[in-house]
Amino acid sequence: MIVWDDTILTGIANVDRDHKDIVDKINLFLADVEADANVSVLHDSFRRMEHCIYRHIEVEEKMLLAVGYDGTKAHFAVHKKLCDDLGDMWDDMLGDVDFRPGEAATAWLKSWLFDHVRHQDFAYRDWIVAAGKVDIANERMND
Ligand SMILES: [Fe+2]
Ligand SMILES: [Fe+2]
Repeated sequence: MIVWDDTILTGIANVDRDHKDIVDKINLFLADVEADANVSVLHDSFRRMEHCIYRHIEVEEKMLLAVGYDGTKAHFAVHKKLCDDLGDMWDDMLGDVDFRPGEAATAWLKSWLFDHVRHQDFAYRDWIVAAGKVDIANERMND
């Protein structure tokens, strides 16, 4: 399980709301893994987690384009890699009804959000603050 940590707050309220929601969905999935839930429960909670992450990434990318962030290309490439890694995990689950994320996959699920926020999301946050566009960014996160 991941414990939310205020050191990853961006100060853009709707971004932080999404990140907290992602932490909750990852924790629900990990709880099902730990409880050795049956395959359909596991698939459902994985899909809920994945949907929450994909939705956030989609809205965040639209917001970054709307505010004119100059680092979109690199940021989107990192998002793409995250989505590919999640997709690979889903494929592994589908290919093996007894599949349980191993230690490496579990560690990755627990760490990627914090790593991504601290490195890439904080970079756009600093740019948005300097550009005086926090309110626009916040509004756009509700699209
Ligand atoms: Fe991001
Ligand atoms: Fe984000």
